[in-house]
Amino acid sequence: MDDAAKRVLISEKEIERRVGELAAQISADYTGQELVLLGVLKGAFIFLADLSRRLTIPRVVEFIAVTSYESGSVPSGAVRLIMDVRKSIEDKHVLIVEDIVDTGHTLHYLMEMLETRGPASIKTCALVRKSGTAQVDVTIDYLGFDIPDEWVVGYGLDFAEKYRTLPYIGVIDTDE
Ligand code: PRP
Repeated sequence: MDDAAKRVLISEKEIERRVGELAAQISADYTGQELVLLGVLKGAFIFLADLSRRLTIPRVVEFIAVTSYESGSVPSGAVRLIMDVRKSIEDKHVLIVEDIVDTGHTLHYLMEMLETRGPASIKTCALVRKSGTAQVDVTIDYLGFDIPDEWVVGYGLDFAEKYRTLPYIGVIDTDE
């Protein structure tokens, strides 16, 4: 299986630098508080692993899994919860960690659902956001990069489950 993307969009070095900046900003903003990092599976697993290890504040890691895309490249718009958090988030400071925000449906769904559970606060962090594809308004409190509307893979992002473990973010032709 050839897992090299056609073109590098964001290099390993650029990702490392930006993740460090985000971690510093988050650590400063949450000084004196414990943070629940809520990774959205599967895509966020690598970003969350790197981000969580560079924070300097007390933190715990939780995961949630949703699915928003049909297999392949066609977004369905529907979001479905397939795995919930294990611990209550009531009175906790929660940071949702996403690899990518595209239409915004996933984050919008998660914010609405998690807000009903009484967290002390809830914010969002995404490594990349596609430009011009939003269908619902969502606030991203901590954003790594704005990217063009292309199919990106690597650093957790897949195409039909391929390419997730590439160390950089690359672009592929989806008709390959
Ligand atoms: C991707 C990504 C986000 C979501 C963003 O997940 O990880 O969760 O799509 O898209 P949206 O803004 O249009 O809702 P995907 O459903 O591909 O699942 P995966 O993370 O398991 O690959």
